[in-house]
Amino acid sequence: MNKICELLNIKYPIVQGGMAWVADASLASAVSNAGALGLIAGGNAPKEIIKEEIRKCRELTDKPFGVNVMLLSPFVDDIIDLIIEEKIPVITTGAGNPAKYVDRLKEVGIKIIPVVPSIALARRMEKLGADAVIVEGTEAGGHIGELTTMVLTPQVVDAVNIPVIAAGGIADGRGIVATFALGASGVQIGTRFICSDECNVHENYKNMVLKSKDRDAIVTGRTTGHPVRTLKNKLSKEILNMEKEGQSTEEIDKRGIGSLRIATIEGDVNNGSFMAGQIASIIKDVKPCKEIIEEMVSQAKNIMPNIQL
Ligand SMILES: Cc1cc2nc3c(=O)[nH]c(=O)nc-3n(C[C@H](O)[C@H](O)[C@H](O)COP(=O)(O)O)c2cc1C
Repeated sequence: MNKICELLNIKYPIVQGGMAWVADASLASAVSNAGALGLIAGGNAPKEIIKEEIRKCRELTDKPFGVNVMLLSPFVDDIIDLIIEEKIPVITTGAGNPAKYVDRLKEVGIKIIPVVPSIALARRMEKLGADAVIVEGTEAGGHIGELTTMVLTPQVVDAVNIPVIAAGGIADGRGIVATFALGASGVQIGTRFICSDECNVHENYKNMVLKSKDRDAIVTGRTTGHPVRTLKNKLSKEILNMEKEGQSTEEIDKRGIGSLRIATIEGDVNNGSFMAGQIASIIKDVKPCKEIIEEMVSQAKNIMPNIQL
């Protein structure tokens, strides 16, 4: 049996990326109902909001789902308390090192799967007791590291003994097969799920992804130390110009404040931050999560009949 399916008690070793302002109960439950692992994104939201999403998700599915904990959130301590209170079976963590919380989570049997951008961090997470790691390549949407999925996956597979989930640049069965060939035991997918029926982002967000071309997912924030991959628009071009002009990190950060909410809720195509990965331009339709997942699995099995999916 596939190691990730066994670990998480799911049918397919496919994890839906925790996406701040995007991954709510509707998306997470649809993915879990389809046999993969749905995640509610903690983002910077306070405990009450996430508690409500967990409640809604439990109403919509009886399958396992997890929570993505953004370690830079001002509410991270509260969110960890909530996860323990609610007996969430698995968490993924982003933007840092979850060391401080590992003992408490493990004591109650909650699985911990950190997102890592490097071999060094993957090794540290294994030592800490992580159950698996998600290696996220720079192709991904959102906050990114330097290395690509293609090079990071096999190197981390060689460096650790826990299962490795590959993320960044996967939106169909070919991507799944490629990362499994590199040694991954599962995949995490973000951008593809933005274009699903159950994803509640503004229609303009989905259309931005559908219309995007191969070089449209650009990176801002390289100079400020917080690189983010978003689709090209007025905001991202303005930020890039501010960076070229050498404007201060404060000024640049100020221009971007609240811009993910402006994209997901308001659908303001000029001033929103439309985070998406380099694979965005391969996505041509919006359909139910179940169809997205079953199509990917069947494509992968056609290419590699003995793939452990
Ligand atoms: C809109 C958006 C928001 C994201 N927010 C988060 C987040 O809050 N926490 C996190 O760990 N990863 C976040 N990510 C990364 C995803 O969880 C996932 O790893 C990534 O999207 C995978 O690459 P792909 O977009 O090429 O599929 C985000 C990605 C996107 C596109």
